Amino acid sequence: MIFKKIIGIDLGTDTTQIYLNGAGVVVNEPTIVAFNNRTDRVVATGTEAKKMLSRTPAHITAIRPINNGVIADFDMVKEMLQTFLKNEKIPWSWVTKTVVSVPTNLTEVERKSVEDLLKESGANSVHLIEQPLAAAFGSRLDINLPSAFLIVDIGAGTTDMAIISMNGIVVSKRLKIAGDLLNNEIIKGVREELRLHIGEPTAEEIKIAVGSAIPTGEKLELVVRGRDVGNGLPREIAVRDTQVRMWLVRPLKLVVEALKDLIESAPPELVGDIYKNGMFFCGGGSLLRGIGQVAEKEIGVKVQIVEDPLTCVARGTGLICENFDEHQHLLNNFSRLKLEG
Ligand SMILES: Nc1ncnc2c1ncn2[C@@H]1O[C@H](COP(=O)(O)OP(=O)(O)OP(=O)(O)O)[C@@H](O)[C@H]1O
Ligand SMILES: [Mg+2]
Repeated sequence: MIFKKIIGIDLGTDTTQIYLNGAGVVVNEPTIVAFNNRTDRVVATGTEAKKMLSRTPAHITAIRPINNGVIADFDMVKEMLQTFLKNEKIPWSWVTKTVVSVPTNLTEVERKSVEDLLKESGANSVHLIEQPLAAAFGSRLDINLPSAFLIVDIGAGTTDMAIISMNGIVVSKRLKIAGDLLNNEIIKGVREELRLHIGEPTAEEIKIAVGSAIPTGEKLELVVRGRDVGNGLPREIAVRDTQVRMWLVRPLKLVVEALKDLIESAPPELVGDIYKNGMFFCGGGSLLRGIGQVAEKEIGVKVQIVEDPLTCVARGTGLICENFDEHQHLLNNFSRLKLEG
């Protein structure tokens, strides 16, 4: 008897999710690896490694091996993935078929690297799908119709936007402006205006607790601790929503400009569909307060945040796994118009 399994994988800059056919999302872990530089051995992955990020002793380094959605350290991603695949909920099998989501507009070398990664991790076959398509499918949009849908996936490392029609991407654009960059803007703002050094986890906490793209009507404030820029000693300050909003204006403007470029590059009929259907936002970045309203105001098209925006890509790969033969036309389909930038 052949033990066979099909799994869907979303290898995100921030989070890696694995969907097992018949079981749903069984792995949802931070994309982080901690290793010991003395022994050159991996000491922790995922949630365990995240606890070590920016708090490690000199001989332990915690890294994020996926950079802007692309594999930056092949061996580290491989070790991490192999650990995740040993999850008790994932059964052993002779044959493993995988559906892996990738950012849009990867080079062939980058795509090959994802295929090699999976094959070296035990997969017998690897099928790729671009993330906005997986997100749309996972959100159960009617992408098979001859009508256009605009999907914007704002992740940690990339914002991937695509216009989809009849099961394929018509035009797409990928930016390196996403959640990580927003965190960096907050680190910079706190340092320059409030004279305090903070780390990435604190910046992320600020973004989630008080960050917004437009005034929300409520005053938000968070007290954080860090190191004084002047005397180097610990200090505590309150960060307000108005300050964070100012720090985030520039990157959010760039995202909206890119969205406008994408719409401008689409054939007129599709633009009409987008006006009618609205735009669909997903990815963790879509949870930033008011981000949809800003795009609506600037572009004049309704924005909807998809249901469960953090898992829609993994669920999209999963829905394909559940019914592989019926949906395989969505896979490995990469040749079409790409917007530079
Ligand atoms: N409530 C929130 N408000 C703002 N940002 C949030 C919120 N929740 C999560 N995020 C951000 O979403 C990002 C993670 O999103 P997601 O899991 O979609 O990324 P990813 O898929 O791992 O990355 P990528 O798709 O870029 O490779 C992080 O930058 C995180 O800070
Ligand atoms: Mg993602």
